[in-house]
Amino acid sequence: MTTVGVIGLGYVGLPLAVAFAEAGCDVIAVDVDSRKIESLAAGESYIEDVSSEAYRAVADRIHATSRYARLAKADAVLVCVPTPLTANREPDLGPLVDSTRALAEVLQAGQLVVLESTTYPGTTRERVAPLLEESGLAAGRDFYLAFSPERVDPGRTDFTLRNTPKVLGGLTDTCTERAEALYGLVCDELVRVSSPEAAELTKLLENIFRSVNIALVNEIAMLTDRMGIDIWEVVDAAASKPYGFMRFEPGPGMGGHCLPVDPFYLSWRAREFDIATEFIELAGKVNQQMPYHCVAKAQRALNDAGRAVKGARVAVSYKPGVGDIRESPALKIISLLKDLGAEVAYHDPHVPALQEFALTSTPLDDAIADADLALIVTAHPGVDHAMVAQRSRLVLDLRGITRTSNHTNVVRL
Ligand SMILES: NC(=O)c1ccc[n+]([C@@H]2O[C@H](COP(=O)([O-])OP(=O)(O)OC[C@H]3O[C@@H](n4cnc5c(N)ncnc54)[C@H](O)[C@@H]3O)[C@@H](O)[C@H]2O)c1
Repeated sequence: MTTVGVIGLGYVGLPLAVAFAEAGCDVIAVDVDSRKIESLAAGESYIEDVSSEAYRAVADRIHATSRYARLAKADAVLVCVPTPLTANREPDLGPLVDSTRALAEVLQAGQLVVLESTTYPGTTRERVAPLLEESGLAAGRDFYLAFSPERVDPGRTDFTLRNTPKVLGGLTDTCTERAEALYGLVCDELVRVSSPEAAELTKLLENIFRSVNIALVNEIAMLTDRMGIDIWEVVDAAASKPYGFMRFEPGPGMGGHCLPVDPFYLSWRAREFDIATEFIELAGKVNQQMPYHCVAKAQRALNDAGRAVKGARVAVSYKPGVGDIRESPALKIISLLKDLGAEVAYHDPHVPALQEFALTSTPLDDAIADADLALIVTAHPGVDHAMVAQRSRLVLDLRGITRTSNHTNVVRL
């Protein structure tokens, strides 16, 4: 039986651990966060994509621990730790370096190590391999090393680990073959590339593609606002073209752990090669402007209704179907509204509390009953937006979810 180690039990690592356990593997799941280990020991999942029932069904094959030493028994170890940016917006490889160092101390000959964390091309070869080699074992000879980017889209159910093709690139052909044999247990289709660098850049290209296209449609949305044209009508109409156009939605900005962060891993690396990645910078700039544009729009909507933002009660919601608030533009919008003197309440079935604002989620009915303006920052499935449009005094819809309604109290992005 294959024993798989997973380091970092977050949005990426925990679903992977469960998938390998479901495939019949023994899993050694390591995290430095003792609350996660305690939660798993109690049979509770803390990731929405993994129900506690699904976790409990395989919990006897998953050994959650904070001790790296247990990884010595694994045939393969998958590294899924965070790769954030520093305050200066440069790659912060701290968690990756820490976890790789700790792994090096227990690394065994014959083991396969795969990095799943999103990072710049060159990380696996130039940073991970030398740290692992401090064990005295040589990469590609005594142990195997590959990069395989995670493509999980939290909250998504139609594309899963099983039916999303998995890209992988090893340091040597044998490294790639080892990685293929492992992922073949949980993925139907594998896409082999010639190097870890190609695999690393593949992930970044995917994310940059999204970021640039979202920025493009957001820029057009700011223009249509001035021109008095409905952006949703234009996007719907353009999407009727059967080829050569791909639909992207305008919105309040980019959230999540990936799109606002990952592209800057590449622009940082590109500087070493005297290339300024202008699309990346421009997309970041446009997307960062969106919360400001949305708040200006809220100000105008209130003004047109004879109200000032100061003292206005604003109800906010966000992030479709998931409770991950990292980099959420809703946080920026709340903070800008508060700066302008608004009293903000929010409703979100997935986010019970927002500690940084000392707010807790208000029941939807109460939130909108009291509000001068209801701001739809995200369109959660299961929330009755038609009802929100009907019962609220004034609505600003940043997601176009109300675009088929003709309520006169609704303003859209
Ligand atoms: N969330 C996504 O949708 C997504 C999708 C694709 C790729 N990724 C990438 O995958 C990586 C992980 O992302 P995530 O969303 O799962 O992050 P996360 O923050 O949800 O989980 C990371 C986990 O790693 C743990 N950790 C940190 N340092 C550690 C260490 N030294 N040893 C052991 N555990 C440690 C943390 O406690 C945390 O539980 C990132 O590089 C991210 O860019 C994320």
